[in-house]
Amino acid sequence: MKNTYYITTPVYYVNDKPHIGSAYTTIAADVLARFHRSKGEKVFFLTGTDEHGEKIVKAAEEKGKMPKEFLDELIPTFTKAWKKLNISYDGFVRTTDLMHEKAVTKFFKKVYENGDIYLGEYEGYYCVPCETYYTELQLKEDKNCVSCGKKTQLMREESYFFKLSKYQQALIGYIESNNVVMPETRKNEILNFIKQGLQDLSISRTSIKWGIPVPLNKNHVIYVWFDALLNYITAIGYGSNSKMFKSIWPADVHLMGKEIVRFHAVIWPAMLLSAGLELPKMVFGHGWLTVDGQKMSKSKGNVVDPIEVSEKYSVDALRYFMLREIPFGSDGDYSEKALVQRINSELADGLGNLLNRIIVMVEKYFEGKIPKAFNISNPEKELRDITLKKAEETGKLIDSLEFNKALSCIWEIIDASNKYINDQKPWELAKNNEKEKLGNILYTLSESLRITSILLLPFMPETAEKIQKQLGITSTNFEETTKWNQIKENTKTGKAEILFQKVEAEKPVFEKTKESETKEEEKKKTD
Ligand code: MSP
Repeated sequence: MKNTYYITTPVYYVNDKPHIGSAYTTIAADVLARFHRSKGEKVFFLTGTDEHGEKIVKAAEEKGKMPKEFLDELIPTFTKAWKKLNISYDGFVRTTDLMHEKAVTKFFKKVYENGDIYLGEYEGYYCVPCETYYTELQLKEDKNCVSCGKKTQLMREESYFFKLSKYQQALIGYIESNNVVMPETRKNEILNFIKQGLQDLSISRTSIKWGIPVPLNKNHVIYVWFDALLNYITAIGYGSNSKMFKSIWPADVHLMGKEIVRFHAVIWPAMLLSAGLELPKMVFGHGWLTVDGQKMSKSKGNVVDPIEVSEKYSVDALRYFMLREIPFGSDGDYSEKALVQRINSELADGLGNLLNRIIVMVEKYFEGKIPKAFNISNPEKELRDITLKKAEETGKLIDSLEFNKALSCIWEIIDASNKYINDQKPWELAKNNEKEKLGNILYTLSESLRITSILLLPFMPETAEKIQKQLGITSTNFEETTKWNQIKENTKTGKAEILFQKVEAEKPVFEKTKESETKEEEKKKTD
């Protein structure tokens, strides 16, 4: 019986190291995984790499290597990057894993035996240098390759086909009756696409050698997408460990960028229906990121390396920024300027300052021990009520993958706490030695920050830990955000440390300041 929350990212192509785009999906998946763990659920979070296809062979050849050797050397760039970004995956699948290959073969046989695979002929426009087929619709009138611009040739090749058309009605029913394809706009796109009519899908190639052989005919290899999609079940025991498989499948969320939703919401469920397996509960296609308003590409030289960014500003600043800046599901922009603004205002001035004020006051007025709350009055009750209400809202928003709204919600607590300090002016109470009132205030603030730290945990795990260390607590259970009065009296706080350093704006080298200009003018006059 299923007892595990199952979340996946796409398996990424290995011909490139992780960039800000792949990091975006993976960080979002990590937030969900951590959130569900904090709710006490068993979670399986899968990511991995897509390693078959002609592009890999070519890239390996250019380096004078065999494909597998070439791939083995590249995999650490992924695993190390995910480690650096604090990605808490439970499984990392490679489509060249023997276990995957065996299970794909098994799946192919099953679908074949069910009568959903037949041998036919594939016709398409073939580009020899790129070794890629295009359909007429993909090409312009001149039929030149969209990638290299050279002439393509109309070619025919023997191919196995999957009876995708057979599943048209079933797919419409699946997508219409549930909130499977999210957000809503993608659901409509997919439904329109299916309703136009589905054609059977060519799922093997004779022209390509680097792939999983078709079990009944070794002249063919299985088409990369048919192979790659299966990672979602082969990595959790399909074909090898049925007990594990049953406890995890179906996926609760397949996360991906919007450009590959069609594969996941049309081909993938049809394949599963054919094999008699349950269907995923959600396919979520997030938006695409641009960089400073431009499409990210190697040729433009604007590909952002998430590791460089996190080394410069911290992993949590990057994680926070990506999910706060862009509504999940919409397209959005990455810019260093916007990142720095958020670090300075929300992370340093907002959150960091709040923590620092609390810890310093507890240290100064109560010898570093969180005081007892006697009987709290209205302003304290207000902050308590806001905190509990916003914590509940945050949970619901993460559940529905509205990460930016969830973070705004957490910041409402932070802003309310900072405002509460400004209004209550605890330093004046200290001057007048009103210890009891002062204790109420600091206890209320500490409690609110305790809850905030648990809410922040999925987004910024290191920061949440640092806050809790300074507060002298360890609390990772989401359930504890619904309760008040959890910090024990006299809890010893840790040393006050700055959470986020403010970033000074880097002055462009060519821009002279007014001061240096006048100095230069004066120098000219005296010369
Ligand atoms: N190998 C296929 C996926 C097979 S899944 C069965 C693939 N790989 S990929 O390396 O190209 O990764 C695509 C994914 O990377 C996107 O779906 C998205 O998750 C992420 N992104 C790549 N570039 C992106 C942006 N510029 N913006 C946001 N996400 C992007 O497709």
